[in-house]
Amino acid sequence: MHATGNSRVVSSLYVIVNYITVFFYFSHYLLFLFYLFDCSSMEALILHRLPLSSSLSSLPSLKPKTLHRNPNFRLCCSSTQSETIEEGKLEYKPGMFDGLFLSFFRHKMVEEVGWDSEKPGYDGLIEVVNRLMMKGRTNLETEEAAVRVLRSLFPPFLLELFQLLIAPLGEGKVAAMMVARATALSCQWLMGPCAVNSVDLPDGSSCQSGVLVQKCKYLEESKCVGICINTCKLPTQTFFNEHMGVPLLMEPNFTDYSCQFKFGVSPPPSADDKALHEPCLDICPNVARRRRLSGKNNVDQCPKV
Ligand SMILES: *[C@@H]1O[C@H](CO)[C@@H](O)[C@H](O)[C@H]1NC(C)=O
Repeated sequence: MHATGNSRVVSSLYVIVNYITVFFYFSHYLLFLFYLFDCSSMEALILHRLPLSSSLSSLPSLKPKTLHRNPNFRLCCSSTQSETIEEGKLEYKPGMFDGLFLSFFRHKMVEEVGWDSEKPGYDGLIEVVNRLMMKGRTNLETEEAAVRVLRSLFPPFLLELFQLLIAPLGEGKVAAMMVARATALSCQWLMGPCAVNSVDLPDGSSCQSGVLVQKCKYLEESKCVGICINTCKLPTQTFFNEHMGVPLLMEPNFTDYSCQFKFGVSPPPSADDKALHEPCLDICPNVARRRRLSGKNNVDQCPKV
C-alpha cells in the first residue's frame, strides 16, 4: 500500500518534470517564431528579459555594465543597439531556475554514476563528473555514459518529435538556430556567459546558429582537457547529431577557455579535429596524479580518443 503510494508520487513527479521540460522547450520554439517575425523583439526578449522570458523567470540574465557594444555578441540582424553588452565581458547572475537546472542535471549524473558527492552545488557536480570520468574504462564508455545523461534530461518523445518535425525544416537551419538559442538561454548556469553568434555553414552561407561561450566554467572548474573532451565536447556533439538531428561542432580553446558551438556544422573525423590533439592542461589534477603514479614526467598524453 505504502509502496504504491510512493511510486505514485514518484511517477507524478516525473510527469510534472516532463511537463516543465516540454513547456520550457516549446517556449524556446515560441521565442524562435517571434524571431522569425521580428528580430528586434527577439533580441529584446532574450537580452532584456521582457514579458515572456521573465514569466519563465528561468532565463539567465546578462547584466549591463557599460554602454559599449561588441559586434561579436549581437544576437541577430536587428538594428536596435543592445546595451546589455560590453567589450568582451558579460556578467552572469544566476537566475531562480538555475539552481533547479543544476540539481536536476546533477541528479541525472548521480543516477548514471551511482555515487554522489557531499559537496553542494557546482563543486559537487564537478566531483561527480570526475567520478564519471574515472568509471569509464575507455573514453568511448565515458562518452556513451554522458550521452545517456544528456538524453535523460528530455522526455524521449520530445527528442523524436524534434528530429522528425523540426530538424528537416529549411535544410536544417531552423533547427540549428533554435538549438543555438535554447543553448544560450538555458545553459549559462553550466558554462557561464554565452551569446548567439554567426557561423559559416558548409554550404558557404552564414547563419546565426553559433554560441560563443566566453570562458567555459565547466572547463575552468574541472581543469582538464580530458574531461572537457570526453564528458562534454564529444557527448554533446553525438547527442545533438544523433538524437536531435542537428550536426554540431564544438571548438574549445584551451588557452582562454572559450568555446565556440557551431550548430549546423558536422565535426571532422577525429584524426582531423584539433581539439582532440591538445596536450593536458598543467592545472589538471589527474595529470599530477598520473605523473606521481608512473614516476615519470613525460606523461603529456591526455586520456582521450
Ligand atoms: C585561443 O585563444 C587565444 C587567446 O585568446 C588565441 O590567441 C588563440 O588564437 C586561440 N586559439 C584558437 C585555436 O582559436
